[in-house]
Amino acid sequence: MDKLLSASVMCADLTRLQDSIFELENAGVDYLHIDIMDGSFVPNITLGFDLVNAIKSIASIPLDVHMMVNEPSRFIDRMNLDERDYLCVHYEADIHVQRTLAQIRDKGCKTGLALNPQTPLDSLEYLTDYIDMALIMTVSPGFAGQKLFEGAQRKTQQARELLDKWGCSHIPIEVDGNISFENGKKLSRCGADIFVLGTSSLFIKDKEMKQSVRDFRAVL
Ligand code: DX5
Ligand code: ZN
Repeated sequence: MDKLLSASVMCADLTRLQDSIFELENAGVDYLHIDIMDGSFVPNITLGFDLVNAIKSIASIPLDVHMMVNEPSRFIDRMNLDERDYLCVHYEADIHVQRTLAQIRDKGCKTGLALNPQTPLDSLEYLTDYIDMALIMTVSPGFAGQKLFEGAQRKTQQARELLDKWGCSHIPIEVDGNISFENGKKLSRCGADIFVLGTSSLFIKDKEMKQSVRDFRAVL
């Protein structure tokens, strides 16, 4: 499977959003990762639906929308996404997450199911027909600049093994949180396919983003 890079927009310079989006595209990333937080599922509030739609209207690469929101089904129709985009919801945030995943499919975009560090991998087992990507959180979600949780490598590797065992080798694994060059390399060896690049690897003072993207691809 191709290794893909998804740039975390919450880490970009939001005072000049359009330029930031074009800069990220120009740097050569594959997706724009957009974190939506509600101040309840996670203790922070970041980007919102209007911003997703604004970015979608100018972006030429697909979006990778990560909803850290309770009962995400309430908001799915608020975003104008298409078949190239991922819309990812958290297992823990929704009592009827199967229905929500089906709702996202009906909307015409790709689905992602995110698991917090402590959430068992079995949560994926009966939902594999409804997911186009598994998002393994490598930190507890809510903030940039955190440290990788201790079980991240083991969990990523087990996720890959289980998905393969369930006949789902086609489902990519995304990793999100503290994806530095070093952690990216390790997690890639554990079977991660999509890497969310934030403050640990892409938004680095005095380093050109194009160079960071090249360096990151080189370590994978
Ligand atoms: C939360 C975010 C963060 C962040 C990643 O879901 O996606 O994980 O932007 O960046 P760093 O490298 O700061 O963890
Ligand atoms: Zn995220």
